[in-house]
Amino acid sequence: MDKIKKVYLYTWGCQMNFHDSEKIMGLLQEEGFSCVNNPKEADLIVFNTCSIRKKAEHKFLSQVGRIKHLKKSKPKIKIVVAGCIAQQMGETLIEKMPFIDYVIGPQNISKVKEIIKKDTLVLTEDNPLVAETDLPTVRKKGISAWVNIIYGCNNFCSYCIVPYTRGRERSRPLKNIIKEIKELVSEGFKEVTLLGQNVNSYKAEVSFPELLKLVNKIKGLERIRFVTSHPKDFSDDLIEAIKHLDKVCEHIHLPLQSGSDRILKLMNRKYSFSEYIKKIEKLRTAIPEIAITTDIIAGFPSETEKDHKATINALKEIEFDGIFAFKFSPRPMTKASSMDEQIPEDIKSQRLLEILRLQDSITDKKNKSLIGTYQEVLVEESINTLLKRFIGRTRTNKIVDINTLCEENITPGMLIKVKITEAHRHSLKGFFK
Ligand code: 5AD
Ligand code: SF4
Repeated sequence: MDKIKKVYLYTWGCQMNFHDSEKIMGLLQEEGFSCVNNPKEADLIVFNTCSIRKKAEHKFLSQVGRIKHLKKSKPKIKIVVAGCIAQQMGETLIEKMPFIDYVIGPQNISKVKEIIKKDTLVLTEDNPLVAETDLPTVRKKGISAWVNIIYGCNNFCSYCIVPYTRGRERSRPLKNIIKEIKELVSEGFKEVTLLGQNVNSYKAEVSFPELLKLVNKIKGLERIRFVTSHPKDFSDDLIEAIKHLDKVCEHIHLPLQSGSDRILKLMNRKYSFSEYIKKIEKLRTAIPEIAITTDIIAGFPSETEKDHKATINALKEIEFDGIFAFKFSPRPMTKASSMDEQIPEDIKSQRLLEILRLQDSITDKKNKSLIGTYQEVLVEESINTLLKRFIGRTRTNKIVDINTLCEENITPGMLIKVKITEAHRHSLKGFFK
C-alpha cells in the first residue's frame, strides 16, 4: 500500500456526505494521495455512498459493478466503500462483492488512514467521539464552506434510515466550530453553511440561536446559512436570530414531508400541519423577505387520495420557494418499511408528478416576482471572463447568472447589488452596473 498515491473519490447524497468526502480527502492527502478524475488511473477508489432512498443505492451498485472489471485488469487497486451504505450493510458488502477491500461507516472516517494500511477491514462501530474529532479537510478553494455542528439524529422519523447509519445526535464543541470558521475566513471564505441532520437541536455550551450569535461576530465572514432544521425544534429564539443577525441569510429549509396530520403522525414527525403553518406565519411576519424551502414525500404507506390532497393544499397555501419531493422508498430497519398498505409505484409516481407540477408553477411565480428588484448577491465564480459573466447567490439562496458591462473588476467573494432582469425555474438572471 505504501506506493499508492492516486485516489478516485466519488460521492453520492447530501451535503453532509460531500463534506465527509472533503475530510476523507484531507486525511488521504496527509498520506500523500492526490485526486484523479478517472478510476482507471487510480490506485485507490473510494465510494462515499448514500442510502436515503433505494435509487441512491442503485446508483452506487451500478457504478461499483463497472469497477469490478477494473479490479480484474488492475488487481492491486484497492476499493473503499464509505458512507451510509457501508454502515447499513457492513460485512455483507464484502461477502456479496469480494472485490471490495474496505467498508467504513460515516462515524469512522477518522480512521481512513489506518484502514488502508491493512489488507481488508470493516469498520462500522459507533464512535462517541465523532463530534470532538477535528479532521483535516480539503475544500474546493472558494467562497462558501460547509462546517459540521451536529452529527447524527435522534428523531427516528419512521421512514428514515439516517438514525441507523449516522447514530445518535452529538453536538460539536463550540470552540472547535468557532476556531474552524475563523480559519476558513482567514483562508478567504466568505460564507459558511452550518451542517447537521437537525441543526436546530444543537446543544453544547450554548443553544443553536446562541451559536448563530457567536458566529455572526466573526470578522470577515459575510454570510451564514444552516441546514437542515426540524419544525419541532424551530423556536421563536431562532426566528429572532435570523431577523436580527445581519450575516444570517433569509432562507430556511424546513421539511414538511406531508400536509396530512394522519400521515405526519405515522411518520413520527412530532408536529401537526397547523403547528407547522403557525411557525411559517410567525417567520414570515418577522422576516417578510424570507425564502422557505421544504422536503415532501409522496406515497407514504396508507396515504389516501385525501391525505395526498392535504399535501397539495399545503403547497398551495404555503407557496414554498422550492421543494425537494421524493417517492416514499422503504428502507431497511425503518418502521415504515414494514407498515401495511404500501402504495403501488404507479400511484406514488402520479402523486409525485402532481406535486412537482404544482410546485413548478409556484416557483415560477415566486421567481418572476423578483424581476425588477435589486438583490444582494455574493459572487461565487466567474463563468466567462471575456463576457464578464458570473454566478452568485442571493441571500435567499437563489442562483443568479450575473451580466455586467462594468469596467470595475468583479471578483468571486464580492457582495454586489444586482438588478434581476429574468427569472427561470432554477435560476435568475441579473445585471450589475
Ligand atoms: N423515502 C423517501 N424520501 C425519504 N427521505 C428520507 N427518507 C426517505 C424515504 N425512505 C427524504 C425526506 C428527507 C429528505 C432528506 O429525504 O424528505 O427530508
Ligand atoms: Fe431522518 Fe427525521 Fe432525522 Fe431528518 S429528522 S435525518 S428525516 S430521522
